[in-house]
Amino acid sequence: MNKANWSMKLVAHLFVALFVLLGGTNVVQTATAAEQVIVNANQWKDTSGNPIQAHAGGMFKEGGYYYWIGVERNFDTDWTFKQINMYRSTDLKNWDYVNTILTQNSSPDLNWCKIERPKIIYNAATSQYVLWMHYEEGSNYNLAQAAVAVSSSIDGNYTFLSHSRPLNTYMSRDATLFKDDDGTAYFISSANGNADMNIYRLTSDYLNIDALVATLWPGSYREAPAMIKRNGYYYLLTSGATGWSYNQAKYAYSTNIASGWSSLSSIGSPSTYESQGNYIIPVIGTNETSYLYMADRHAGAFGEHFNYGKYVWHELQFNSNTNVSMSWYPKIAINAATGEIHKVTQNVDTGLVIKKDFGMENTFLSISYDGEYPYMSTIISAESTWIKEDVDGTYFRLKQKRTGKYLYNDPAADNKVSLVDPTWNGPNVQWKLVDAGGGYARLEHRSSGMWLRSYPYGAGLSLVDTSNTGNHTKWLVQ
Ligand code: GAL
Repeated sequence: MNKANWSMKLVAHLFVALFVLLGGTNVVQTATAAEQVIVNANQWKDTSGNPIQAHAGGMFKEGGYYYWIGVERNFDTDWTFKQINMYRSTDLKNWDYVNTILTQNSSPDLNWCKIERPKIIYNAATSQYVLWMHYEEGSNYNLAQAAVAVSSSIDGNYTFLSHSRPLNTYMSRDATLFKDDDGTAYFISSANGNADMNIYRLTSDYLNIDALVATLWPGSYREAPAMIKRNGYYYLLTSGATGWSYNQAKYAYSTNIASGWSSLSSIGSPSTYESQGNYIIPVIGTNETSYLYMADRHAGAFGEHFNYGKYVWHELQFNSNTNVSMSWYPKIAINAATGEIHKVTQNVDTGLVIKKDFGMENTFLSISYDGEYPYMSTIISAESTWIKEDVDGTYFRLKQKRTGKYLYNDPAADNKVSLVDPTWNGPNVQWKLVDAGGGYARLEHRSSGMWLRSYPYGAGLSLVDTSNTGNHTKWLVQ
């Protein structure tokens, strides 16, 4: 922004600060924002009630607002790029849709392509907001390019500038941006068929790649990079390269961005709690600064269209400058004003659990809190406890303990599993156990004759026919 704008902004901020001091309550939500609870592994809605379409994106903080951007795709066979949406919030919970900042019509080059992992930084010298992203043509990942777009306002319609391989040389797929304290900006991306992770310095206008400054962990196949700096340490979190399927997140650190990087250490569970990271946003409050690791539970991992992906946010815990960890919290409370993030106490309960213990970690048939769809959780709680209601000695209904709803499928509609009010009690909510050997059972649905299936890493539930005799359809009912 130019100087005149800047001083107007300063005056506005001073005015607002005065207003708050004088007891104003309804102007600056940042000063009054209370703790907000978010429910992980849901596709959250914006303040108009529409699902937030901001997948595998990034976040940008300015003027008391968090701006969240991410990708929405077309429902065509290649899931091509449709647009990048922007939302904003003062409390990280209530998101107003702001603008669609780039669309497939913004440039002929965007008309049939894939855009992934958009990130924004602000260039103080040029007063421009610069958007970098991963670029591919519509149907495959062979181009392996980076693309850049700019706007003079954070929420403007961005102008698409170019797409190419960094320095016209290096393959570039999953990517992120990092702006250092001295204003130097870096573009970090998976190179060499995803085998290596490259760090490039951007030119001073942030519009081009200036130089390759480091190639990290050659041959390690890391992607989904996210970088922060804390206490003079740079941290880079990455996932493994396994497409939409989940894998173990790892982190590394260095006090110099260009050299001296540690080896990779695991963080979170083997599946990263069924998610893949995309960005780390510092939540800077009056009491502390917390670090929120934004991740996606990609819908592609459980056979659904990209746009149904869900959001999973973890707090990074810094045990020391060289030791970082995170835990699965089904619900987290965020206080954007104080900077505090904590786990919301789980409703504990006892009763029947339906466990799937094939895959990377133990998971239990559970329901989400909002929307109340079934999914697999790593935690036993009231959400993963069921009551088995006998029907005729063979068939039974599975009543979810907290909500009292039945596990349900309507074979006339699709093969999805959902929950229904207990006024429905017929064959669509009835199941029987079929012995699968070794203490395992299959859950056979009465009206369709199909079996309950979960994906190996836990997320997603559907019914499949009885030719599917693999571990995906085996359960332990305990
Ligand atoms: C993932 C990657 C995503 C996307 C996906 C496509 O490994 O992190 O950004 O490219 O593969 O299969």
